[in-house]
Amino acid sequence: MPSTDTSAAQQPALNIVLIGAGRMGQAMLSGIRAQAAPHAITAIEPHAPTRAVISNESGIRVLASIEALQDDADEQAAEVILLAVKPQMMSAVLSALAPLLRGDELLISVAAGTSIAQLAAACPPGQAIVRAMPNTPALIGMGITALAAGAHASDEQIQLAQGLLAGCGEVVLLQDEAQLAAVTAISGSGPAYFFALEHALLEAAQQLGLPAELADRLVRATGRGACQLAWQSSESPWQLQENVRSPGGTTAAALSVFEQRGFHALIAAATAAAAARAEELAVDNNPH
Ligand SMILES: NC(=O)c1ccc[n+]([C@@H]2O[C@H](COP(=O)([O-])OP(=O)(O)OC[C@H]3O[C@@H](n4cnc5c(N)ncnc54)[C@H](OP(=O)(O)O)[C@@H]3O)[C@@H](O)[C@H]2O)c1
Repeated sequence: MPSTDTSAAQQPALNIVLIGAGRMGQAMLSGIRAQAAPHAITAIEPHAPTRAVISNESGIRVLASIEALQDDADEQAAEVILLAVKPQMMSAVLSALAPLLRGDELLISVAAGTSIAQLAAACPPGQAIVRAMPNTPALIGMGITALAAGAHASDEQIQLAQGLLAGCGEVVLLQDEAQLAAVTAISGSGPAYFFALEHALLEAAQQLGLPAELADRLVRATGRGACQLAWQSSESPWQLQENVRSPGGTTAAALSVFEQRGFHALIAAATAAAAARAEELAVDNNPH
C-alpha cells in the first residue's frame, strides 16, 4: 500500500541541477523554489527561448548543455539531479551525464516508462535513484507526486526527495515501482482528463446557446468548486454525485446518458491505454 507520509524534515540548502526545463521541469522548479531553503538551482535547457524565460523569471543559472556543468567547481557539485526530459531523450541525456556523476548524488527522474534499472545501467554502480511521477498542478503547488526508490537510495535521500517534491503538493511513497505505470495513468495524465471534461462542457454550453465568455466562467467555477468539494468532503465521489441527482431531475437525465453510453467503460479503457503506453515506453526506451 502507498504511504502518504509527506512529513519530510526541514530541508537543507542544496545544489540542485534540473535537466530539461519544459512543462514538467518548470512546474517542479516553481514548487522547489517556493520552499524556505534557498537552494542553488541550475537548469539545463537546450531551447534558447525557454532559457531566456526561465532566466528572466527566476534568475536561476540556466545552461544550454549538460557538458557545460563540467566547469563547475567542487563546491558547486550537485547533490540532487532532477531529470525531466522526455523518455525518448533519456538515453542521450544519461550518456552525457554519466561521465560527470560522482556516484554520491541523488538522481530523481520523472520520465514516464524509464525504469530504475534502465537509469542505473547508465550510472556508476551504487547510484542513488528515485523515480517520481508528478503532475502539472505542481505549477501551483497542488500536484501529487508518487515516488519509487531504488535499492541504493538511503532513507535520508528518500526523505530528501519527499521534502523537495512536497513543494509541488502531496507526495506518496510507493512500495513497488511496478505501481508507477498505473499511477502514471491515474494522476500523471489525470489532470488532462479533468481538462478534457471541462473542454467538452464548454463546447456543450455553447451548443446549448450560451455565449463563450459566460460558458467559460460557468465551467471553470464549476470545475473548481466540484474538485474543491470532493477534496474537502468525507463523502465518496459517488455519494457526492448522488447528492446532486434527484429522482426524475435534470442531473438524473444527464447521468442516465453517461450510464447508457458507457462512461465508466470509457474511463477504464482510457486509463488502461495510458498504463499500457507507460509499459510500452519502458520497452521502446530499452529494446535489449
Ligand atoms: N507533462 C506532464 O504532465 C508530465 C507528468 C508526469 C511526468 N512527466 C514526465 O516529464 C518529462 C518531461 O515532460 P514534459 O511534458 O515536461 O516535456 P517537455 O515540455 O518537452 O520538456 C522536456 C524538456 O527537456 C528539454 N531537453 C531535451 N533534450 C535535452 C537535453 N539533452 N538536455 C537538457 N534538456 C533537454 C526539452 O528541450 P527542447 O524543447 O529544446 O527539446 C524540453 O524543454 C517526461 O519524461 C514525462 O514523462 C510529464
